[in-house]
Amino acid sequence: MAIPVERTRSPKARPAEAELGFGKYFTDHMFRVDWAEGRGWHAPRVVPYGPISLDPAASALHYGQAIFEGLKAFRHPGGMRLFRPGAHLARLTRSAERLCIPPVDEALLLDGVKTLLRTDADWLPGGPGTSLYVRPVVFATEAFLGVRPAKAYTLLAFLSPVAGYFSGPPRPLRIWVERERARAARGGIGGAKAAANYVASLLAAEEAKARGFDQVLWLDGAEHRDLEEIGTMNVFAAIGGTVVTPSLEGTILAGVTRDSVLQVLRGWGVPVEERRIELDELATAHRAGRLAEVFGTGTASVVAPIGEVAWPGEALRLAAPGAESLGERLRAEISGIQRGERPDRLGWLEPV
Ligand code: COI
Repeated sequence: MAIPVERTRSPKARPAEAELGFGKYFTDHMFRVDWAEGRGWHAPRVVPYGPISLDPAASALHYGQAIFEGLKAFRHPGGMRLFRPGAHLARLTRSAERLCIPPVDEALLLDGVKTLLRTDADWLPGGPGTSLYVRPVVFATEAFLGVRPAKAYTLLAFLSPVAGYFSGPPRPLRIWVERERARAARGGIGGAKAAANYVASLLAAEEAKARGFDQVLWLDGAEHRDLEEIGTMNVFAAIGGTVVTPSLEGTILAGVTRDSVLQVLRGWGVPVEERRIELDELATAHRAGRLAEVFGTGTASVVAPIGEVAWPGEALRLAAPGAESLGERLRAEISGIQRGERPDRLGWLEPV
């Protein structure tokens, strides 16, 4: 059944592409579907984008039953394309399971997102590095103060025309290693795309910014020894010809770009290892001249070079990466596939 579309009567002015930045503008419509006990997911519809009403006792506001996703649609010679929507929806399902949220109807959500993208297709920017960022969010709406999984939820998906995640011209990022606080603990919810994981990161990120750094590198919550992830990104290091990234053991978000980077590297024949990486190993490799590159990966940031990894008394500085660096080649490959400029050998693009 086609998803009904209620069109806005007051379309907004389109922002200039040079103004986009990340996540500041929202298109004219959004997709909505609600869940109630006994009814499941019901009444899917595309409606004008705007504020929603929420009961003050809605449990997401109190106990944090809220998860989200972030995926992108691109301008492509064959028409609009979504990048790896199946991987993003599967992750939303895993996040829902961890937070006791009813399983999302992945097929319905994909249909809703495509209907929304077609409705707001003229918002799709075309310049280099731009896309329509799709933000699905699921949250508990039941008005009830007892602590248990809620019995009512809303799923919204909306669109933001975006350019780069970081402001200003592209430059290697400065990263501060957080050695006291933890983002996630073993057995906790670090592996889910839960709103709570982002609030857990804010204080350390603000302190790092005050010191002139861009984002925080998180270490494991128990020993503060092994690398976990960087702010909004997964982390990779090229050490002596091998690319290493922390293994997924439940505390780290299973990034879709992380997975794409691993697949591209394996396709190129570059040795890759998913394993625990001690901060000391980075420092030792740097001293020995074997730490060639460190970069972050994420849907919003794609591949972001890192120019410095610092903590009290230490600063590992890395040379600015050239066009032949792995990070730059990966960014060019993944962006090229997304925009139809390089072959989509792994079937990552989905027509809208
Ligand atoms: C993304 O890369 O899509 C993310 O999830 C980061 C986001 C929180 C801005």
